[in-house]
Amino acid sequence: MLVTPGSQDLAALRKTLQEAGYDEQGLLALLGATHLPERLDTHLPHLLYLTREGKRLDVLVRLFLLGLTVTHSEAESALGADLLPACAGWGLIERRGDAVTACVRLTPFRSLLLAVDQPQRPEIARRTDQVMGVTPSTVTLANFTLRRPVRSTLDLGTGCGVQALLAAAHSERVVATDCNPRALEFARFNLQLNNVDKICLIQGDRFEPLSGSKFDLIVVNPPFAISPALRYYYRDSGEPADRFAETLVREAPEFLEEGGFLQMTLDWAERAGEDWRDRLQTWFAGSGCDAWVLRQSRQTAPIYAYLWVRDTEPVGPEQSGRLYREWMEYLERERIEAVSSGVLVMRRRSGRNWTRFDDVPGQIGPETGRWVELGFRLRDYLESTADDELLTARLRLSPDARLIEESEAHQGRWRTTTAHIRLSAGPTCEGRVDARIRGLLARMDGRQQLRDLLVHLAVELGVAPDKVIAQALPLVRDLMLRGFLLPESLSPDDASA
Ligand SMILES: C[S@@+](CC[C@H](N)C(=O)[O-])C[C@H]1O[C@@H](n2cnc3c(N)ncnc32)[C@H](O)[C@@H]1O
Repeated sequence: MLVTPGSQDLAALRKTLQEAGYDEQGLLALLGATHLPERLDTHLPHLLYLTREGKRLDVLVRLFLLGLTVTHSEAESALGADLLPACAGWGLIERRGDAVTACVRLTPFRSLLLAVDQPQRPEIARRTDQVMGVTPSTVTLANFTLRRPVRSTLDLGTGCGVQALLAAAHSERVVATDCNPRALEFARFNLQLNNVDKICLIQGDRFEPLSGSKFDLIVVNPPFAISPALRYYYRDSGEPADRFAETLVREAPEFLEEGGFLQMTLDWAERAGEDWRDRLQTWFAGSGCDAWVLRQSRQTAPIYAYLWVRDTEPVGPEQSGRLYREWMEYLERERIEAVSSGVLVMRRRSGRNWTRFDDVPGQIGPETGRWVELGFRLRDYLESTADDELLTARLRLSPDARLIEESEAHQGRWRTTTAHIRLSAGPTCEGRVDARIRGLLARMDGRQQLRDLLVHLAVELGVAPDKVIAQALPLVRDLMLRGFLLPESLSPDDASA
């Protein structure tokens, strides 16, 4: 049980850890760019080797990150004679004879320090109410979130409070909810640990405790696994297939201000003979929101089941065989052939709403929130700009645009065989471009009107200008939607400014 002292008391802990280099940079330098797995089994020998010198940071990493036991004198010299008993009093560590063990994991994430459950502890690993640490889905949502200043943010399913704490930096007030009282205990501790007092914590199911409230931003990293049973609150919703995500999508608009955004991570089922886009489209119908789904990956049912069992079940081969069979039987009963994973953003907006689906394979990088915000602005611009007006625009190639060419040797020279454009910031979004489009894009420097550039191209090609204009306009619109081309009024840096 965690005891939450005042933030003054916890300031000493933060200071001590920081001085020892126990922050993101320090851990990166010590452990390398390894993503710390929830289960250390296979990595442990290497991590022990990296922390073998017994310096202060080595001891703190073993104690608070890896969940290993250290001696009392090691703990005392790393934390100090006053802080060691204080940590025990707050429920962070326990002492048995000469052995000191941490009861929680302390995870540095960006400028935050977060107490979360230590999944190495067997009694924790089995708990339904275990509180998740910083996982890939946490990072995805953090990167995806729009960071423009807002009045109010809701973090639904806050867990240890990570998204709420990040949102506090650009929100006047933040509400964070969770159905799991233990999660709120950790979140409460973390608010003090990070000295943030503008977050209101509420226990409850989904939007149930929020009746009548409205927010400019709602972020949700829900229990998104499509799983056979509710085993962990952080992973399973207890609802069939992706019904939990669907209810959030259907209920959220009522809690959004006009112009407000919902951003969430989600997994959704793909069934035989069904286009997943059609099914998701029905979730958004009549929502009063624009909706944009970015699909990062797709796994067949057997791989999906295998990865969840491997990554989240602390069991031996026999039990994991039984659990895997349970997952597979469930997915087969639900006729689920594959599961897609991605992120979703909805914006409440009066008028005619749009829906968009994109494939963005790979990671959602740190610049994605800015790219998403720009995407909405570009869409607004294009919807309110007729073709005639667009032809008078002076478009610029985004400073993030990159051309990647592949060439083969041909008669003593290099000959380009394929060329792609992509953005250096934001999710992977690539498109093939031929030599004419490459030339046109290079000339888009914001000085000439689009019509003049297209007429110039028509002359070069010996084709009627109207024909080139008619063919080029849909392409230009598509490139703008994807953030490759920008009107004078917009720069990639405008977003989240
Ligand atoms: C995947 S974890 C996300 C934790 C944290 N927000 C993050 O991004 O790392 C999902 C959280 O949702 C909470 N949760 C599960 N079902 C819920 C429900 N019906 N209503 C509210 N919260 C719920 C879980 O307890 C858990 O803390």
